[in-house]
Amino acid sequence: CGIVGVTGNENATDILLDGLQQLEYRGYDSAGIYVNDQQGDGFLVKEKGRIADLRALVGPEVKGSTGIGHTRWATHGVPSVKNAHPHVSADGRFFLVHNGVIGNFSQLRDEYLGDVELKSDTDTEIIVQLIGKFAAEGMDTLAAFRKVLGLVDESSSYAFLLMDKEQPSKLFVAKNKSPLLLGVGDGFNVVCSDATAMLEQTHDFIELMDGEVVVVEPDKILIMDPAGNAVEREPFHIDMDPQAAKKGAYPYYMLKEIDEQPGVMRTLIQEYVNEDGSVKIDQELLDALSKADRLYIVAAGTSYHAGLVGKELFEKLAHIPTEVHVASEFAYNPPLLSEKPFFIFLTQSGETADSRQVLTQVNEWGYPSLTITNVANSTLSREATYTLLLHAGPEIAVASTKAYTAQIALEAILVKAYGEAKNIKAAKDFDVAGELTKVANGMQELVDEKGDIEKIAQDMFATTRNAFYIGRGVDYALAQEAALKLKEVSYVQTEGFASGELKHGTIALIEEGTPVVAIITDPKTAAHTRSNAQEVIARGANVLFISSRDVAAEGDQIILPEVDPLLSPLVSVVPTQLLAYYVSLQRGYDVDKPRNLAKSVTVE
Ligand code: G6P
Repeated sequence: CGIVGVTGNENATDILLDGLQQLEYRGYDSAGIYVNDQQGDGFLVKEKGRIADLRALVGPEVKGSTGIGHTRWATHGVPSVKNAHPHVSADGRFFLVHNGVIGNFSQLRDEYLGDVELKSDTDTEIIVQLIGKFAAEGMDTLAAFRKVLGLVDESSSYAFLLMDKEQPSKLFVAKNKSPLLLGVGDGFNVVCSDATAMLEQTHDFIELMDGEVVVVEPDKILIMDPAGNAVEREPFHIDMDPQAAKKGAYPYYMLKEIDEQPGVMRTLIQEYVNEDGSVKIDQELLDALSKADRLYIVAAGTSYHAGLVGKELFEKLAHIPTEVHVASEFAYNPPLLSEKPFFIFLTQSGETADSRQVLTQVNEWGYPSLTITNVANSTLSREATYTLLLHAGPEIAVASTKAYTAQIALEAILVKAYGEAKNIKAAKDFDVAGELTKVANGMQELVDEKGDIEKIAQDMFATTRNAFYIGRGVDYALAQEAALKLKEVSYVQTEGFASGELKHGTIALIEEGTPVVAIITDPKTAAHTRSNAQEVIARGANVLFISSRDVAAEGDQIILPEVDPLLSPLVSVVPTQLLAYYVSLQRGYDVDKPRNLAKSVTVE
């Protein structure tokens, strides 16, 4: 979910709606705002669906200078108007928006709210009802808010923005685990889940720590630590162009972001590689890495798939054993660790709760960590020992594209620096800038040939219910990402499979016309994958071959430009991204905002 707040600005309604629009990638199944005009009138507007639906409901009377807003990704309670935030206390005095999950909400309800008629199925409403109840019993707002925060159990996560009708220019703010930033405006202040929501208002933000409570007024921000002591903290400046997060002439962000990939490769070379080919990476980070006996890459979703490719790079070019783990699994079932582990968190947003949970644990254990992220000052970036930035520019489409390729490219750059520091020949021989330049040119060739993919999407995928991607080695890693991309935007049930493993059971799903995409880039295994493709063709499958120029056979439909074999996912992913894009559009879906998803999932 995404939340925003503002106080002290007459355009509160517009600021909230525009901010929510920017945060829509965090969830878009319902939205709402509450605005107070300081003359005693407050307006609560909520709607199921997108911010555009909410905007259509907001009439000219909804004006004020203080307000809060929310865009939701449902956890407790179906998407509906009644479950949309802000939630309101029974007496109509308090309004609350929440990002996170309250683990013990049902116990709190049973213990304290037996006599209150609840209006929604959400965990959030319990919190605002409790605040209302304690305030009605005589507590002041801050005390009631604090008391409720104290009742919430350990498993919970929250970013809360609370308004009190009786103190209409104040925002009461609290944060634990869920991301939240304060923004300092000229004569007003804002609060937001991330900076992109408020870049039109300010570039100066103050970070908040878990457990802090804040009272925000138009000309004053009071931050308090968990014990209630005032905390002084200077703002930091975010130098991001708000236009970078706009889609310009493109019909969809996903297409824009696919097209930006060659440029992202070049930016990474500029940022991280010197003229002489040596890599610019903080020596302290390299020293810490050099001490490790094993790397643990931890991530979720597409970032996890970039980690699978990273393992190949680290092991083959720098000879360090590397494990890749799904964050939500690692968090509560960690593997046996080596003596000197080093953790690498891959996360586009830097906010994924599953990954953050692991980092918190790693910090408690006292092990060193690196976050590779696209968002400077994001939670995982702040909390890890080291950070490397992806420099991919804002990624807005929910399905990740350029962040995946940026992660792999940056892993390659890091491997080069690390392997060289350890004097490993394979790394010394690896001309990372030259190879990534080849990749950038190859990507450009592929994005220039979109029409071919659009046609293949129509011919092979128009009506299918399921599909497969198969490959071996890095092609298997890529197959998993390609399958995720297709399923998340087109709802075609797709599996990414190790091509040799298909025959051990899953081949039973192949029917007349089932699309199977074979990815073939490695000369060592090309013949084997081709025979696996023949096995499915013999059972009726409709096979699309995507192969590199050096291993291509007659009849292969998509030929990939030649690049270093370990970097081949950087080019082979491009046609699979485009395929997913076109299948989604041809089926009439909103490719940037697929159903049930959110870009940044800040609950576990
Ligand atoms: C969400 C998104 C995925 C993304 C994953 C991890 O589920 O929908 O596209 O890969 O989170 O996000 P991160 O920001 O940690 O890379």
